[in-house]
Amino acid sequence: MSAPLDARFFKSVPKIELHAHLTGSISREALHHIWQTKQAHSLSPDLEDPLVAIPPGKVDYDIKTFFPLFSSYIYKLCSDSASIEYSTKAVLADFQADGIVYLELRTTPRAIPERGISKEDYVKTILALLKTHNEDQANTMRAFLIISVDRRNTAAEAEEVVDLALKYRSKGIVGIDLCGNPAVGDVRIFTNAFKRAKAAGLKLTLHFAETEASATDVELETLLSWQPDRLGHVIHVKQQFRDAIEKQQIGVELCLSCNVHAKMITGTYSDHHFGTWRHSSVPVTLSTDDVGVFCSPLSEEYLLAAQHFNLSHGEIKELCLSPISSIFAGAEEQVRLKDIYSAWEGQIA
Ligand code: IMP
Ligand code: ZN
Repeated sequence: MSAPLDARFFKSVPKIELHAHLTGSISREALHHIWQTKQAHSLSPDLEDPLVAIPPGKVDYDIKTFFPLFSSYIYKLCSDSASIEYSTKAVLADFQADGIVYLELRTTPRAIPERGISKEDYVKTILALLKTHNEDQANTMRAFLIISVDRRNTAAEAEEVVDLALKYRSKGIVGIDLCGNPAVGDVRIFTNAFKRAKAAGLKLTLHFAETEASATDVELETLLSWQPDRLGHVIHVKQQFRDAIEKQQIGVELCLSCNVHAKMITGTYSDHHFGTWRHSSVPVTLSTDDVGVFCSPLSEEYLLAAQHFNLSHGEIKELCLSPISSIFAGAEEQVRLKDIYSAWEGQIA
């Protein structure tokens, strides 16, 4: 008899998460813990309690209110080694507890000069935490790092991100991302940096056509000319670009709850473009984007997809396996994941 497709089932399914921003994945509880610890040591006394600043249950952050949440609050709270370490460990533990077996976490290298932290220090701190996590045999999840260029960055800052990725490639960095407020910047200034990264063998994932403003022909043609390996969101794309994505066999990372809560799509879950892409020939990956903000873990994203698109057991299995071909960590991890899914297959037959 087939298992009922409920929350418990989807938590138990081995899942692959490919689009998760580190700072956006910190739970409100973890932020609250950091705030309490700082209060106890009279640090950042003027910062509001996260449970007040980001009320529990509030998920209706849109493109205008979402980005300031980081620059005016979360980055101010997570502003030293202790809070970065605590929050990263908490994020890893949350993904592991939700049944993730492979995680590509992404983060924007952040310097905190007042604490003597450089962008390189920040990256090294995160990599050390991922290493500790991966070396613990009790953990079934393996985690790798993608570092992000923010659309606000200068061309020189983007080159610095590529330099860091190349320097720490053997320590767990698997690719480069382009993220940030889609209303900001001209992506053409990053062409050299991303093409250099690609030529050096780094994988590329790009936030693509998130809003109409960031979906002009010029922008999308520029992004595709970098030969990305995966694209995130892929919302405002006309047929010409859908065809190009299929032709180049670029994987798509789709974030249901984020797009619905942030009103990035018209309508609700059943109107999501997952409904179109799932019938395409490219690898499709359900992703959380910012589970700390939108509060829907990956197991719930699978449940929502199953409910709103009437997925059968066979289609769910296909959806689970689809990301394997587009992971950035390479053949060894692909083999490990295939083994995990073979062992699990019996449960979903
Ligand atoms: P961080 O890179 O670990 O600091 O994670 C937070 C950052 O990720 C934010 O400041 C944004 O730049 C970026 N980010 C998170 N979600 C999105 C998204 O949906 N679109 C574009 N950028 C995003
Ligand atoms: Zn994102």
